[in-house]
Amino acid sequence: MEHFDIILTLARIALDAEGPRATQQIERLRDSLSKTDEEQAAKLGRLLTRSDRRHTMAPLAMEEMRTTAEAARRQLPGETLSPSTPLPSDRETGTPLARVIFPNADVAEAPILNAPLKAAINDLLGEWKHVEELARFGSRPNLRCLIYGPPGVGKTKLARHLAKQLGLPCVEVRLDGLMSSFLGTTARNIGALFDFANRYRCVLFLDEFDAVAKARDDAQEIGEIKRVVNTLLQSLDSRNGKGITIAATNHEHLLDGAVWRRFDARIEMQRPTPETREELLTGFLSPIVLRPGELRFLIWATEGMSGADIEILIDTGKRFLVLHGHHFPDAKSNMAKSEAVRESARSALILEGLRRQAALNARMFAPGRAALITGPIDALDQALSKAGLNQAERGLVLGLSQSAVSRRSKRGEMTTETDVHA
Ligand SMILES: Nc1ncnc2c1ncn2[C@@H]1O[C@H](COP(=O)(O)OP(=O)(O)OP(=O)(O)O)[C@@H](O)[C@H]1O
Ligand SMILES: [Mg+2]
Repeated sequence: MEHFDIILTLARIALDAEGPRATQQIERLRDSLSKTDEEQAAKLGRLLTRSDRRHTMAPLAMEEMRTTAEAARRQLPGETLSPSTPLPSDRETGTPLARVIFPNADVAEAPILNAPLKAAINDLLGEWKHVEELARFGSRPNLRCLIYGPPGVGKTKLARHLAKQLGLPCVEVRLDGLMSSFLGTTARNIGALFDFANRYRCVLFLDEFDAVAKARDDAQEIGEIKRVVNTLLQSLDSRNGKGITIAATNHEHLLDGAVWRRFDARIEMQRPTPETREELLTGFLSPIVLRPGELRFLIWATEGMSGADIEILIDTGKRFLVLHGHHFPDAKSNMAKSEAVRESARSALILEGLRRQAALNARMFAPGRAALITGPIDALDQALSKAGLNQAERGLVLGLSQSAVSRRSKRGEMTTETDVHA
């Protein structure tokens, strides 16, 4: 079918905006295409499967969330924390020691996770729905959980999300802030913070948890810092049965056995896989919708990056687009024919935007990747070919003659590496 790329993009936009009504028409198109062009029919099929997964997961997740939150509320003791509850503060400066994020806040939207981790988190939350059965086996849901992994992979986001899924306010404290204050008051502040968390039904979230270990290394007054660390360990024990505690760190190797043992669940967050990067990119790019080849190019370019890096890359990229011409159809716009023509220039903009960023911030990219992006087109073409992008996709993202590529494609001469440069 002619202009199939454009039709595929339109189908994706329609599925995002319209769901069921669009699904029906795109299924008809897939069935009729399957008689003439199996590859195109398969592409539409994949689009439908992905969209179906998105549309059917949302309401289920809401229902699960309600039952999980009810179970957590039933099981955990304590008073109800409200926005008017006074927060614990440093006695001398009056600075609050924590901030509270309530479960209805937008900041706690779900992080995008690699598949095995997503499953593990679902299990962790699922334990709350089986509290009675667990009790029969002398067990109970995990109450203390340590999240660790490299910077910017979504640890803080996951902790907030867990609290939200449990329907509990998240009492959030950055330990580095707490530990850097005058040592004498630090122990007192830790005490006040845990008294507060133990009194109310909440998740206590200790972010930047490695500050405990770092303080121990940097300490001038060894005896005093030991006292602070011991206070923290005892305080962690004092939460036993009172509520949920989550700690996050990107220096897990600094935590000693005594601290490590205090957490029943230890969750390792790794850098996103290609599938997860696709989800992250699609989410951050919204409302811009990319064609499959363009998306695959970005999935390749972002290998090794954290979610935070990808967010910065796309954010900077969007600013670049606004400055240098916006050729991208979005979910709301009706793409006119002239727009479709202009669209052919957009892939060049993606490459140009990436080149700009690779030149400015090479360390954001995996080793050698910035050099490939900014270097000669032949080497980049070869790298993309190794990464599995087909010739049409490479032609698209590298700005190599589209018509030449499609003419060759029709003649079935697209199999040799050198063709694309001709
Ligand atoms: N897996 C993810 N899903 C969605 N967004 C993500 C993800 N990872 C990172 N981000 C984006 O990056 C930002 C930083 O994430 P977050 O602060 O949770 O990372 P972190 O692992 O806690 O980093 P640090 O180690 O520096 O504290 C988030 O606000 C979010 O926008
Ligand atoms: Mg963090």
